[in-house]
Amino acid sequence: MNIQQQRQQIRRQIRKTRTNLTALQQQQAAESVTQQALDLIEQSQAKNIALYFSFDGEISTQPLIETLWQQNKNLYLPVLHPFAKHHLLFLRYLPDTPMVQNHFGIWEPKLNVQHVLPLNELDMLFTPLVAFDKQGNRLGMGGGFYDRTLQNWQQKSFLPIGLAHTCQQVEALPIEHWDVPLFDILVG
Ligand SMILES: Nc1ncnc2c1ncn2[C@@H]1O[C@H](COP(=O)(O)OP(=O)(O)OP(=O)(O)O)[C@@H](O)[C@H]1O
Ligand SMILES: [Mg+2]
Repeated sequence: MNIQQQRQQIRRQIRKTRTNLTALQQQQAAESVTQQALDLIEQSQAKNIALYFSFDGEISTQPLIETLWQQNKNLYLPVLHPFAKHHLLFLRYLPDTPMVQNHFGIWEPKLNVQHVLPLNELDMLFTPLVAFDKQGNRLGMGGGFYDRTLQNWQQKSFLPIGLAHTCQQVEALPIEHWDVPLFDILVG
């Protein structure tokens, strides 16, 4: 099996395991990572925070979003770039932001260029992932969206943090040279 086939097999396996988690397991995982994320945000005094809308059994970011709004943090969500294929923009997300479904069926803020945050103004970026390993390597859905976003993140001064269920950990991911490891992964 070549490396691409290995990566596809890991994606298939873990996505299946993840969608089979019970509602209770999902709820407990969400509570656990929410608390860990809040602690990390407080320690690092992050103000501009990017998250994502969970789907496909990903840990729910809903409780984290609600709490961060109460703390007056500035929240951002990824939006598919209208021209640059496989690139993301990060748009301000408020309780009354108009939302639309993108072509993956994921809800995102309606595009408004005035609401775009340049990545170098971001303090923390929570990323979804399919699989991860002890080294902080991440495997996503296969679009390379986050690998492009995370390029040279050290120079942009934000911290990329993965959120994952325990069942998403593998011993060692077969990585490619473009994969960008995360600063940390919070596991629930
Ligand atoms: N910085 C980059 N510049 C150009 N192409 C890239 C870059 N990063 C990744 N790619 C391309 O994107 C494709 C998908 O990458 P990969 O399989 O690592 O996705 P992924 O990490 O699972 O997805 P995502 O980053 O969206 O979660 C690969 O073909 C790779 O060549
Ligand atoms: Mg990758």
